[in-house]
Amino acid sequence: MQNLLITGGCGFIGSNFVRFMLGRDDFTGRIINVDCLTYAANPKSLTDIENDFPDRYVFIRADICDGPQMAEIFDRYGVDAICHFAAESHVDRSIVDPGAFIQTNIVGTFNLLELARFHPDRLTLFHHVSTDEVFGSLSAEGYFTETTAYRPNSPYAASKAASDHLVRAYHKTYGLPITISNCSNNYGPYQFPEKLIPLIILNALEGKALPVYGDGKNVRDWLYVTDHCDAIWKIMRDGQRGATYNIGGNTEKPNIEVVETICDILDETAADKDIGPRRELIDFVTDRPGHDRRYAIDATKLKRELGWVPAESFETGIRNTIAWYLDNMQWVQRVQSGEYQTWIKQHYG
Ligand code: NAD
Ligand code: TYD
Repeated sequence: MQNLLITGGCGFIGSNFVRFMLGRDDFTGRIINVDCLTYAANPKSLTDIENDFPDRYVFIRADICDGPQMAEIFDRYGVDAICHFAAESHVDRSIVDPGAFIQTNIVGTFNLLELARFHPDRLTLFHHVSTDEVFGSLSAEGYFTETTAYRPNSPYAASKAASDHLVRAYHKTYGLPITISNCSNNYGPYQFPEKLIPLIILNALEGKALPVYGDGKNVRDWLYVTDHCDAIWKIMRDGQRGATYNIGGNTEKPNIEVVETICDILDETAADKDIGPRRELIDFVTDRPGHDRRYAIDATKLKRELGWVPAESFETGIRNTIAWYLDNMQWVQRVQSGEYQTWIKQHYG
């Protein structure tokens, strides 16, 4: 993997993955980051990387749905491996406006697969980053494994399920060397503050209401983003071609517990007498339609075959995450004020 194409590298997990890869000794290649810069992207998250790795990091603004442009990039940079993150990723947005999810998550993935199909000599791996949401919802018992049937409930989950099926089909039909990972909810630095954890951190800091959907007892299995990056790289390097791997933090928490933990840590590390105890900001709001009750991953296969276990517990990961947001208020303000979008327009039109 000397010319690794990363799609969606200006988003939350993609930008962490670029940083993770360029900090490793066992990857000596170049990263070509293709991102069309939607609202969820922040190229400034990688400014230091651009400066520190001028020969090993290239950013190109392009839409994965644009087949000819992707083909041109593929040839110009001699792409020999793909790690595909680019997606519309927020469930609530998929409920309001599913069209973009169908386009990017399904058509965009199809475009990349077509490119890969016509370069069998060059392409060593197509890794597809997916979600546990393709499996639907669990009741109080049980875990998602790699053989759990797909039962997506939101338009987001359905679009990711479709893309997983396409990737798998290209392996079975055309022999494309693929791997797929389905992971649980990520958290950590650089996450756009529309997802639960950064939204709650930033609202709590400002003394704003903390919206909790329904009864707050929906359960998610939280995975620290660098643990996710580590798992992806292990799969890309040593995973069986054609295989799927589940990735989970083994950290099930009801949403209300996550929100209360954030409140308590901020009361301790950023006490503000005008705000008072932050748990009082919690506001139970109307539930999300079709809200999946519980996600929980069984990551035994990944541990058994590739020796992966998460390094962070929720207790350490959430403290790191809160500390990162407190230390990076400039990044936060750029995002909250919309300045990052103005910057994108000025630089890229
Ligand atoms: P994100 O929304 O933070 O970032 C997505 C990135 O993709 C953005 O930079 C965006 O500009 C880019 N993008 C969107 N449409 C594009 C297009 N048509 N062409 C090029 N670039 C495009 O998402 P994330 O949270 O970093 O998620 C990355 C991947 O991981 C997604 O495939 C998502 O489904 C998957 N995933 C995320 C989570 C999570 O908790 N965040 C959990 C499981 C799986
Ligand atoms: P989210 O971060 O949107 O991830 P996903 O929907 O992919 O799991 O939401 C995580 C959980 O938090 C989910 O059960 C919905 C809930 N939630 C809230 O209670 N309030 C909020 O404001 C948000 C954004 C999410």
